[in-house]
Amino acid sequence: MRKLIVANYKMNGDEKFYSLVTKKLNKLALKDARFVLCPPFVYLSKFKKHIKSGELGIQNISAFDFGAHTGEISHQMLKEFGVRYVIIGHSEVRSSGETDELIAKKVKIACGHDMIPIICVGEDKNSGLELIKSQVEKAIQYIDNSSKIIFAYEPIWAIGTKVTPTSEEIKTVVDNIKLTLEKLGFKDVPVLYGGSVNKDTYKHCLNSGCDGLLVGGASLNLDEFIEILKGVDNYE
Ligand code: 13P
Repeated sequence: MRKLIVANYKMNGDEKFYSLVTKKLNKLALKDARFVLCPPFVYLSKFKKHIKSGELGIQNISAFDFGAHTGEISHQMLKEFGVRYVIIGHSEVRSSGETDELIAKKVKIACGHDMIPIICVGEDKNSGLELIKSQVEKAIQYIDNSSKIIFAYEPIWAIGTKVTPTSEEIKTVVDNIKLTLEKLGFKDVPVLYGGSVNKDTYKHCLNSGCDGLLVGGASLNLDEFIEILKGVDNYE
């Protein structure tokens, strides 16, 4: 399976930065790795016209089609900008009140409109595999197993901390997510790893057998992000 690298820019960057992102990344010729860029909503127009390599994603989506939902962005609006992927269930959004039920509705709306959800799951220091299993099961409760989905394992304690699990620890969870999915009839679902992935840690994260990486902070340093993309492209 071709490795997928997703940049989650979170609430960072400005006009100048995103102009540079498209300019620099458009020059990149990768033979094998694929990448998806997830900027904040307001910078989507920067990508719509200028992205030539890589694909476009976003960091959230409304669970509704349209209407009186102040501050929300619908699938239809996103698709007008060429957005194909959507991060759903990130722990930073869960921590501000997003429930498993709402996540499941967002996954359903994304899948129902030809978008691919990147569903984030992850534990804190006090919870383990059972929590992750439950997050996985609940997230896919409203879709059928022909839906195109991606999961991302992001341990909360590894996000932005410069601490990563060992390859074996990541492998245990990634395998468990796949097993949970297979039991429910979802086959060959890619599972990414995210949490303090940078130029020094990406190889060891990939050694876990995951299908790609979800990169936060290191995606803001363009040279470092390009180094990771090239490295993953040449990863055996
Ligand atoms: P960092 O790479 O900054 O740890 O963030 C990971 C993340 O949350 C990506 O979604």
